[in-house]
Amino acid sequence: MNQYMPINLKSFRLFLFVSTISTLLLTSTAISTITANQNITDGQTLVSDDETFEMGFFSPSNVSSNRYLGIWYNQIAVKTVVWVANKETPLTDNSNVLVLNGEGNLILFNSTNRRIWSSNSSVIGNNPVAQVLDTGNLVIRNENDNDPENYLWQSFDYPGDTFLPTMKYGKDFVRGLDKYLTSWKTADDPSPGEYTNRFDFEGYPQILLRKGSDVQYSSGPWNGLRFNGMPSLKPNDIYTFEFEFNEKELYYQYELVNNSVLSRMILNTDGILRRFIWVERTQEWLLYVSGQTDNCDRYGLCGRYGICNINDSPACGCLRGFDPRFPDEWRRADWSNGCVRKVQLNCDGGDGFIKQSGVKLPDTRKASFNVSMNLAECEKVCLRNCNCTAYANLDIRSGGSGCLIWFDDLIDIRTYAEDGQDIYVRMAASELPKMAAKSKTRVRIIVIPVLVGLTLLLGICLFVYKRRKQKNNDVNTVVHESTYVNENKREDWELPLFDFNTIVNATNNFSDSCKLGEGGYGPVYKGMLEDGKEIAVKRNSGKSIQGPDEFQNEVQCIAKLQHRNLVKLIGCCIGEEERILIYEYMPNKSLDSFIFDEGRRKSLDWSKRYSIIIGITRGLLYLHQDSRLRIIHRDLKASNILLDKEMNPRISDFGLARSMEGSDTSANTRRVMGTYGYMAPEYTIDGIYSTKSDVFSFGVLVLEIVSGKRNRGFQDANHDLNLLGHAWRLYNNRKHVELVDSIINGSYVESEVTRAVHIGLLCVQKYPEERPDMPMVVLMLGSQIPLPEPKQPGFYTERRPQEANSSSNNPEWSSYNHLSNHLSVTYPQPR
Ligand SMILES: *[C@@H]1O[C@H](CO)[C@@H](O)[C@H](O)[C@H]1NC(C)=O
Ligand SMILES: *[C@@H]1O[C@H](CO)[C@@H](O)[C@H](O)[C@H]1NC(C)=O
Ligand SMILES: *[C@@H]1O[C@H](CO)[C@@H](O)[C@H](O)[C@H]1NC(C)=O
Ligand SMILES: *[C@@H]1O[C@H](CO)[C@@H](O)[C@H](O)[C@H]1NC(C)=O
Ligand SMILES: *[C@@H]1O[C@H](CO)[C@@H](O)[C@H](O)[C@H]1NC(C)=O
Ligand SMILES: *[C@@H]1O[C@H](CO)[C@@H](O)[C@H](O)[C@H]1NC(C)=O
Ligand SMILES: *[C@@H]1O[C@H](CO)[C@@H](O)[C@H](O)[C@H]1NC(C)=O
Repeated sequence: MNQYMPINLKSFRLFLFVSTISTLLLTSTAISTITANQNITDGQTLVSDDETFEMGFFSPSNVSSNRYLGIWYNQIAVKTVVWVANKETPLTDNSNVLVLNGEGNLILFNSTNRRIWSSNSSVIGNNPVAQVLDTGNLVIRNENDNDPENYLWQSFDYPGDTFLPTMKYGKDFVRGLDKYLTSWKTADDPSPGEYTNRFDFEGYPQILLRKGSDVQYSSGPWNGLRFNGMPSLKPNDIYTFEFEFNEKELYYQYELVNNSVLSRMILNTDGILRRFIWVERTQEWLLYVSGQTDNCDRYGLCGRYGICNINDSPACGCLRGFDPRFPDEWRRADWSNGCVRKVQLNCDGGDGFIKQSGVKLPDTRKASFNVSMNLAECEKVCLRNCNCTAYANLDIRSGGSGCLIWFDDLIDIRTYAEDGQDIYVRMAASELPKMAAKSKTRVRIIVIPVLVGLTLLLGICLFVYKRRKQKNNDVNTVVHESTYVNENKREDWELPLFDFNTIVNATNNFSDSCKLGEGGYGPVYKGMLEDGKEIAVKRNSGKSIQGPDEFQNEVQCIAKLQHRNLVKLIGCCIGEEERILIYEYMPNKSLDSFIFDEGRRKSLDWSKRYSIIIGITRGLLYLHQDSRLRIIHRDLKASNILLDKEMNPRISDFGLARSMEGSDTSANTRRVMGTYGYMAPEYTIDGIYSTKSDVFSFGVLVLEIVSGKRNRGFQDANHDLNLLGHAWRLYNNRKHVELVDSIINGSYVESEVTRAVHIGLLCVQKYPEERPDMPMVVLMLGSQIPLPEPKQPGFYTERRPQEANSSSNNPEWSSYNHLSNHLSVTYPQPR
């Protein structure tokens, strides 16, 4: 033993020596400051004192060997550059040097000693130093002066595409600095790209995102709490934010609540503003929120006096009292020319205002403001000036204060579900609601909606009453009801009745060559009307399992539903023995004919799959929440999702749908109908259905779309779980991405996959109350809010080996195929 001691001691001393040296070396490299006449060469870096940021030379990608001087996050594995000095003048080799001269200017020389970039400050320093601060700001200051006011120069005054915490975004009127974001040209080229995001000072300040000189997006004016067009900007645990506007400066700024959570905002090369948060566990930048969230955020999409509502289809409408300027264009979805007044203003003192609530305020470039006026004074001022078109509160805090007045056509208005503001739009006297009774045209506009409402209510009552009263009601009910409807209301929701001969001609007398498929209720044909329009004809023969109930139900439901993610019913045709529904024709058939098909699976890449998931979410949200009747579909599955020409999903087959009135949230049925593999436990077992049982089916569908495998019939060599169980297992091992269809072959967005799988699992939880509702799902998909941990799915291990292969037959138009997949059981009604 003894003989080893000295050696051990020796090596221990050696170790000590080496580690001291390396500590010395490390501390000597990791400096944050250089003084006058010191320099940095390629390979050397400055590191901020807390080691968050590092400055030095880098290449943006391995494709080009160009070198730039820049600042990046020091402690994260993903190289994330936040600032670049010589954006437009790349260095071509590695022998460059950055020198701080005695006057306090940083100068970058290339290998042939030419000046490539300089900080170019006009203030002369006294013992200057250059330092990388913990905020990522590169500053030049006098040696013993840490006051930010006295900095000789700072990189935060010259941002590139990244907006960092504590940076003042906006204008310094005293020093004439304008700090704004400019996108990079490409991911490899930091020179200024097409997009800028910059405060605009015309009228009342707002931030405008431009492509070249075209405005793409507006933040809306600051309303005391946030930018009016950024409803997602809310107090949160990650950062605080403020807006300052005085004679000296105008800026927006945010600060991290805890510096251990990194966050940055960036204007990407695609012109989208995004806020990212670094997630330590997954080692990636997570998208927290995007500036532009949907189509309605496109600047001026609906033109002047148009209003965009993302839940409408189409999204554009006109403000109250306005009509499309060019109705034909408008119908063709060209909204750019906007809307015009039905009645011109005459400015004779009789004008008034209509309040429009819950909106994003229009472009404020032609607006003026006064912080001390109240709303009543604001109205007076607006009324006095014939050019004034609208007014609103400037600050919405504590009941509202200040005055914002528009002197031009109103553009870029949209609605928000919540967090919108009120604006008062100027109208001619005859257009004002209280004057309505005096004018005939007004009467129609107000009375018709009331009539429609009443009729609808009556219709529903009648429908419900009849359903309860007559178990065996026949087609006459439908005819009766639609005539009833026709008498009362002309255009809106009348369903065209087709002549039987028209349908016979369109389908070549129901010829076999036109047949798309055969389902439980009878065959489906492709047809062509005389005007060339393609249709799908669903013919209900007497012997089918879709009884009069289901037929009437489907007609009732769909006729009233209009959404771009629902299949559109064009009309129906009722003969003595015939009940025929006419749908728009979907050339791409159903989703299951893609995702479960060896050949066609390939054509659905990840982005298509993701947009299909989003489309289904929208359609289902509409059914559950936004449609005039609250609809529970009850048979959501891959074969009931049809795909249109652009591969947009359309929910179809409302044969089993139920409408829930008012606040009912669940109902009970004795006839459990649906499809194995998609039905929620409480529905299969107790016959209880609710929007949450649809959410369960939706969750199954999401997992199927991601994986390209059927829940029912799923097989894995390692275990005996179904698809839900398999996904749950992967989730628990943090291997979400292994669920992705192998045919996608790695080209997916990991964060989207992770989120989709997570949301899918939240939707298939066992107890309905644990599942999110569809508005929540939309929110979770569309934002980066943290998701709760899912619990074990319902029907986690359910397995019916003998049936595992029964679903592999795949008829061409399988969406209409009920028979093979349906189960119909009658349970005693629970009391
Ligand atoms: C950079 O600094 C080194 C050592 O301090 C010095 O030898 C070299 O001349 C300097 N280079 C320039 C260009 O100032
Ligand atoms: C560039 O880097 C990426 C990832 O770091 C790598 O996948 C790729 O093969 C590299 N390309 C070249 C041309 O070296
Ligand atoms: C240094 O910059 C000058 C002027 O921009 C340029 O002409 C020269 O080629 C550059 N030297 C190298 C090695 O890139
Ligand atoms: C530096 O300042 C000079 C004169 O003020 C100006 O001509 C030059 O363009 C500036 N250079 C940079 C890189 O800003
Ligand atoms: C910041 O977060 C870290 C890690 O989560 C935690 O240890 C620390 O206490 C937090 N600091 C503050 C001031 O909350
Ligand atoms: C704002 O309104 C107040 C009260 O009406 C008025 O006294 C003041 O002059 C206005 N300020 C401006 C800048 O117009
Ligand atoms: C209204 O606008 C017109 C044209 O822009 C202008 O000539 C006129 O002076 C304005 N009137 C008022 C009261 O501001």
